[in-house]
Amino acid sequence: MSHEKLETNIGWMAILIAVVISFGGLAEIVPLMYQAEAIQPLPGVKPYDALALAGRNIYVREGCYNCHSQMVRTLRFETERYGHYSLAGESVYDRPFQWGSKRTGPDLARIGGRYSDDWHRVHLDNPRDVVPESNMPGYPWLAKNTLDPEEIMTDMRALKRLGDPYSDADIADAPTALAGKTEQDALIAYLQGLGKHAPKD
Ligand code: HEC
Repeated sequence: MSHEKLETNIGWMAILIAVVISFGGLAEIVPLMYQAEAIQPLPGVKPYDALALAGRNIYVREGCYNCHSQMVRTLRFETERYGHYSLAGESVYDRPFQWGSKRTGPDLARIGGRYSDDWHRVHLDNPRDVVPESNMPGYPWLAKNTLDPEEIMTDMRALKRLGDPYSDADIADAPTALAGKTEQDALIAYLQGLGKHAPKD
């Protein structure tokens, strides 16, 4: 097919443009997929246990990410405030990751262990009881709602299929781990684990 024919036939032109662009796309996207495979979890980073996984689901359901990022940037004022900057190896088991950039409230990537569980309970029920100027909404229903073990077992099985190293025993033990716990317990377990395996400065 001569060049002139090609350039004057819009149908062929459109098809061939799509082919050329998809090759370009492949060349950009495929190497990234291999790179993602190459990212190893940092020492100590494990898939979320049943309770923390339930808490993570609640974090996503309640939209906490609308006001909180979980990514400390490589800037001096950020590392001074929050701790070591975030590394990809910390979030290999986060599907989807919660990095974000919207910060109405502070970054939460290093929140684990900063406050007691009791502080979080009061704060989640009504933030203004501990931080008078806070404009974070309260989430009082979390302390009343219980958890559905079936849902978490389904999640764990799905994550296992995606390659997360859950054992059958981990999954079978989920109902025991969740017994008698509230959504608030789960969310706090999740928050207290954030940043636990970050490098110390
Ligand atoms: C409308 C925005 C908004 C939403 C939504 C929100 N927060 Fe906050 N959050 C804030 C603000 C502002 C602060 C700082 C004042 C304070 O401590 O209450 C804060 C503080 C926090 C802190 C303490 C951080 C620190 O370093 O002292 C935690 C923990 C927290 N939020 C967790 C959550 C969780 C979990 C959710 C979802 C259930 C959530 N937030 C939803 C705005 C928000």
